[in-house]
Amino acid sequence: TGAVTYDPGFMNTANTKSSITYIDGDEGILRYRGYPIEQLAEKSSYLEVSYLLINGELPTKGQLENFESSVERRTLLDERFKRMFDSFPRDAHPMAVMQAGVSALSTFYQDSLDPFNEEQVRLSTYRLLAKVPTMAAYAQRVSAGHALLYPHNSLSLIENFLRLTFGYPAEEYIADPVVVSAMEKLLILHADHEQNCSASAVRLVGSSQANLFTSISAGIGALSGPAHGGANAAVMAMLNEIRDSGTDPRRFMDKVKNKEDGVRLMGFGHRVYKNYDPRAKFVKSIADDVLERLGVKDERLELAMKLEEIALNDDYFIERRLYPNVDFYTGIIYKAMGFPTNMFTVLFAIGRMPGWIAQWNEMIHDPETKIGRPRQIYTGEHARDYVSMEERT
Ligand code: CMC
Repeated sequence: TGAVTYDPGFMNTANTKSSITYIDGDEGILRYRGYPIEQLAEKSSYLEVSYLLINGELPTKGQLENFESSVERRTLLDERFKRMFDSFPRDAHPMAVMQAGVSALSTFYQDSLDPFNEEQVRLSTYRLLAKVPTMAAYAQRVSAGHALLYPHNSLSLIENFLRLTFGYPAEEYIADPVVVSAMEKLLILHADHEQNCSASAVRLVGSSQANLFTSISAGIGALSGPAHGGANAAVMAMLNEIRDSGTDPRRFMDKVKNKEDGVRLMGFGHRVYKNYDPRAKFVKSIADDVLERLGVKDERLELAMKLEEIALNDDYFIERRLYPNVDFYTGIIYKAMGFPTNMFTVLFAIGRMPGWIAQWNEMIHDPETKIGRPRQIYTGEHARDYVSMEERT
């Protein structure tokens, strides 16, 4: 088997070749299939970017219409899902509810589980893109104790999602176009990020030839942690704490630098970006638009800007090349839109869905794919004989 390389966290090990997403961490560049993230966020839509990531090329008008209608008419969930969602405790984390829901897709849609049947994979792709936003909305409403609505398939996927989340039966909810557009942009910015923890989880599980739904549910689990997608909620918790305790931002930053109680500046730093995260720049401008449009004044935005200013001028952060990442400003926008903090990571998961699907597809079609199976360096006991209970001290 040859020598084993020790590389915790895969800092230097490429697990795959990939043609989906390009990142230059030193320059702060991010491209999907060669297209700069800024252009896509400015000009494209979430479903168009989904098509691009999954199929490799931008769609023609006809291809896009076909893709959109294939997704948008599948937003309905089997009625039994409602009972499943209802049976979770009300304070269940919506990310856990969504992971359970995506896992359960394998039980309801058994006609699209074969990873090697292209037609079935296409069907499960439509189902995931369509039903995950519905599940996310249901997860939020169940925890709020609100009735679940049926999707309106005349609406776009994102309008539908906002209506399912914020609409009430008695009123006709019409999403603010600025909010819809901001949501589309945010989802695009989150749509893929090459071999991050959750994409790697999806590939690893998929490499055993597990079906797409099951592989994606592993990705949702990986995304839930605070060092990954959970960071957007952790940023909000951090800003709330600084605000509510009246801590001076400079004092808080001293704590971070002294590594007191392991405190980190959440929403800062990245394994690959050693420059300003290009997504974070864009997110900040969306935050300005949305807060202005909704007439929301949030002192946490000023607080976040203050923390950023301190960090960007401080040797600790400069030496370690720590810059704001995508999660630093997103929470403030989600709050202004009306989402509770525990939904932030769920929104990240909706955004990341096409990326996970694209990564899984690439893995399944790659003739060089092998089952993911890292090696280890054993540090345990040498062989020893079983000791009977009486003889143990
Ligand atoms: N605040 C303070 N110090 C930090 C931070 C931070 N946010 N991030 C890294 N450092 C320090 C770290 O203590 C270490 O210092 P030293 O060399 O003195 O030990 C040095 O910078 C290198 O950090 P690392 O943990 O070895 O770097 P990593 O590549 O393993 O970690 C990270 C990357 C994103 C997990 C980390 O920067 C972090 O914990 N950031 C805060 C959480 C966060 O915002 N996560 C979101 C990531 S982006 C979107 C996503 O994936 O969801």
